[in-house]
Amino acid sequence: MAKEKGKGPRHVAIIMDGNGRWATQRGRPRLFGHHAGARRVREVVRACPDLGVDYITIFAFSTENWKRTQVEVAGLMSLFRRYITKEAKALHDEDVRVRFIGDRVRLDNKLVDLMDELELMTSECKKVNLTIALNYGGRDEVARATKRLAQDVANGSLKPADVNEETLPKYLDTYVLPDPDLVIRTSGEARISNFLLWQSAYAEYEFIDTLWPDFTAEELARLVRSYGTRDRRFGAVKA
Ligand code: IPE
Ligand code: IPE
Ligand code: MG
Repeated sequence: MAKEKGKGPRHVAIIMDGNGRWATQRGRPRLFGHHAGARRVREVVRACPDLGVDYITIFAFSTENWKRTQVEVAGLMSLFRRYITKEAKALHDEDVRVRFIGDRVRLDNKLVDLMDELELMTSECKKVNLTIALNYGGRDEVARATKRLAQDVANGSLKPADVNEETLPKYLDTYVLPDPDLVIRTSGEARISNFLLWQSAYAEYEFIDTLWPDFTAEELARLVRSYGTRDRRFGAVKA
């Protein structure tokens, strides 16, 4: 459920963009930027509870990112494995419940095992919900959801007449999450690049110039405050 005006966003989603340019500006390889970007996540997640943010979702790897060089893709996959291994205990100790969204089929088994373990290990955590979108694409998610929905129609457990805006999202990867209230994209690009297409239908957007490795908890706090001044009408007219 979205919150009213004056309240903070309950669910913030972030397109963490600009790692490559941040590294290039420093004359370093793109992966250097990805490592610096991964280090920003902890501070940002930690800031959420005090800002009233219960859910934070971060875009780590898109279904389109496989188009990058083999070196960059392999480096990112190895970074994800390392990140989960290194951060698991701290996430658990800080009471962060971690979930992953995206298609796991194309990810290597070792990484999928680590993802499953982290989800299980933090399944009782309650302070904040961190969702990591990994091999995630909004269109891919809707297509996978539709396939499962069609299977349920074929096996008789769902009637075509019962397919609607309430039943369809139950098939999405995000079925347990509220819709994002605020979507932030760093690095100056004003596009959504296939992120949470269905879920963000009525989200507020912030496109900011900061490159992801320079993003801070203070900047998140500023964006959360600014969200509180917005008037969300959801198509209605104010009384
Ligand atoms: C975002 O940073 C991280 C991923 C997409 C994995 P980029 O790698 O897209 O950085 P830029 O946009 O090239 O600067
Ligand atoms: C979106 O960033 C994906 C992630 C942040 C993981 P990209 O850098 O891949 O998006 P485009 O290609 O600029 O649209
Ligand atoms: Mg980019």
